[in-house]
Amino acid sequence: MLRALIALMLTLSFFSVAQAQEAETPVSDRSATGGAQTLEDILARQRGEEVDNSFRSESIGDPDSAAGLANQLGTLGGASDPELWRALRFGEANITASNNGPAATTLVQDGGMRWLTFRQGPLISFAGYLLGGTLLLLLIFFLVRGRIRIDGEKTGRKIERFKAIERIAHWMLAGSFIVLGLTGIITLIGRKFLIPLFGHDAFATLAIGSKWVHNNVSWAFMIALVMIFVMWVIHNLPDRTDLHWLRKGGGIFSKGHPPAKKFNAGQKLIFWSVIVLGTSISVTGLALLFPFEINMFAATFSKLQAIGITHLPGMGELPTTLAPHEEMQYAQLWHALVSFVLIAIIFAHIYIGTVGMEGAYDAMGSGEVEEQWAREHHSLWVDEVKAKEVETPKAPESATPAE
Ligand code: HEM
Repeated sequence: MLRALIALMLTLSFFSVAQAQEAETPVSDRSATGGAQTLEDILARQRGEEVDNSFRSESIGDPDSAAGLANQLGTLGGASDPELWRALRFGEANITASNNGPAATTLVQDGGMRWLTFRQGPLISFAGYLLGGTLLLLLIFFLVRGRIRIDGEKTGRKIERFKAIERIAHWMLAGSFIVLGLTGIITLIGRKFLIPLFGHDAFATLAIGSKWVHNNVSWAFMIALVMIFVMWVIHNLPDRTDLHWLRKGGGIFSKGHPPAKKFNAGQKLIFWSVIVLGTSISVTGLALLFPFEINMFAATFSKLQAIGITHLPGMGELPTTLAPHEEMQYAQLWHALVSFVLIAIIFAHIYIGTVGMEGAYDAMGSGEVEEQWAREHHSLWVDEVKAKEVETPKAPESATPAE
């Protein structure tokens, strides 16, 4: 499971992956079991090794060649019981269910254990190292670089940086993201870390509340994400000033400030991370909110397979047919993994917007920034604002409207 998840992480994209760790397929002598699986097959699977299941998946009986019911040793309907169970297990049985929900005809699937062990183990460790490591790096950065101060003399003049609607959308995105992050983490780590602390009863209440809040606040996040995209995408298209800004490392460790428009290259990276990862989290979140309705992993794996991603070193086959439950398992893992990556990025964003840089918070607080701050960090944008003011000068505040 881990391998495929890493594969998709590397390929960037929206939807995800995962397959148990693989080792050489053990060659089992099945003569003693008449071709059925052996203890070694079962143990190998429990060790997380991939066992070639074709000896089972292809042995599901052929009703047409079965001995007739009335014959000696005839079978009931053509397939024996083990054959029928294998057909159920590999999704080949012809099932009619009274419930016609999307997953009703999948009676057996075996992804659950792999999903559970990945969710309770490597996923939580990954989150711990990533978030802990990010906080540590930010602390080291703060100790080495200190607060980025406004270098020049403050002018006392203010420039409007963000309108009220932009700030409302930003704080809706930020507020909902923080709530979603906290309630999501409670849901993920609750069984392992919170039940031992508070006990089952208290955790049950907390878990039900978290789930309710998480499911409903997700809409605020998605709406704010769309608002932010529509309002800011035009300022976040890459251009040549970004290359210069990046070459100068944003001027963080050097003297002088590289010119930047409304958003510098660092902020554009934050913007696109929020949009791309936020969309990925939203789509997989919707898949979890409406179980079995949105299936995308098998299709994504097929596309990755088709572009040859599986030929890269260390990569193997990806599962291109998945039971509805497995689609849900991948959706949950991808949702959590991408969320943790975005949380780490947002830690850095919050740092620079608060303690990391003098004068930055005002942009989202009051919406107005000190002109000297703007000249140092967004000189080209200030020039644009000033040029517009010359074209359409503001009416003096005391002016009376024309009759
Ligand atoms: C308490 C937490 C947060 C604080 C203090 C904060 C602060 C700020 C500030 C001051 C700006 C304006 C920077 C400028 O004037 O150039 C900004 C911009 C932005 N914020 Fe936040 N923010 C927070 C959380 C978030 C969250 C959770 C998200 C998304 C999930 C987010 C997404 C953005 C984006 C996309 C921008 C524009 C790009 C950028 O400036 O980096 N913010 N934020």
